[in-house]
Amino acid sequence: MEKFLTGLKKKALMDVSKAADRTALEAVRVGYLGRKGELTALLRSLKDLPLEERRRLGPEANALRGELEAAIQERSRAIAAAEKIEERLDITKPGHRMPRGHLHLLSKVDAEVRRIFTSLNFSVVEGPELETAYHNFNTLNIPADHPARDAWDTFWIRREGKSPMEQLLLRTHTSPVQIRYMQTHEPPFQIIAPGRVFRYEATDASHAFNFYQVEGLMVGSDVSLANFKYVVETFLVQFFGKGTEFRFRPSYFPFVEPGLEVDMRRKGGDWLEVMGAGMVHRNVFDAVRYNPDPPAGGVQGFAFGMGLDRLAMLRYNVPDIRLFYSGDVRFTQQF
Ligand code: PHE
Repeated sequence: MEKFLTGLKKKALMDVSKAADRTALEAVRVGYLGRKGELTALLRSLKDLPLEERRRLGPEANALRGELEAAIQERSRAIAAAEKIEERLDITKPGHRMPRGHLHLLSKVDAEVRRIFTSLNFSVVEGPELETAYHNFNTLNIPADHPARDAWDTFWIRREGKSPMEQLLLRTHTSPVQIRYMQTHEPPFQIIAPGRVFRYEATDASHAFNFYQVEGLMVGSDVSLANFKYVVETFLVQFFGKGTEFRFRPSYFPFVEPGLEVDMRRKGGDWLEVMGAGMVHRNVFDAVRYNPDPPAGGVQGFAFGMGLDRLAMLRYNVPDIRLFYSGDVRFTQQF
């Protein structure tokens, strides 16, 4: 009887540890502890034993019952834990898409513009957003009180000083970056100056009080409008694709002579201005102490300026410039 008890214990514990899931474990439990279970039967048979044996085996059999119950509970917990892990690691489940950030459309267009001009051997230079009237206007052939200043509605910074170097403003275009560059470098060179600009004006679908420009400048002893045409056409074709139609037409900007504007034909067939440009005015060269007379060893060059926002709007069919600055992810996530 004692041997039988030890054998039963061994077998029962083995069965418990082998039970792979809840159903199997429950079968094992019923097999030993159920109404017709092996251990139940044994416990029931104890009463028929002689007193002596009953005393010895009774506690042992009861202890086995406790042990078996504990082992079953332990095994059941292990099975539950394994099921949970399996749930977590279900490799057949489709993956969750991780929310990922990305560059703003304007940043992408900015990077593209830089890439194209860098491939044409232009350098990228930057300048301050808070400018002096001197760099933003005076040196660009726009004297104080000249009506041309009205063309750039300006955010002025309230300040004591009255001289152009003391008067501060938020730059209205990136042209002052060219001035700063020319003050510190000698030609020949070719640069672009991308950056944020500010205009004190009412907003609508095509006007924002801050936006982005890319200014270009190429200066050398024999830089001509033909060079300008080549550079700009190369840029526009690379940016908008082959077959894009442009036209050049005369225009006026105080810092260039002659001045012109470049239009591009839109899908609907109408023309839209994409940039202002021209040959750098001699007064601008004078202001940065360049010799403006090529026959006397001087230099000449072209400059152009375009709105990054407008480039983006044309290429990606964005109907309203204010969308770029709305911070609305329903817009930004589309690009
Ligand atoms: N700076 C001009 C603007 O903001 C653009 C421009 C640049 C025009 C260079 C001609 C030459 O309107």
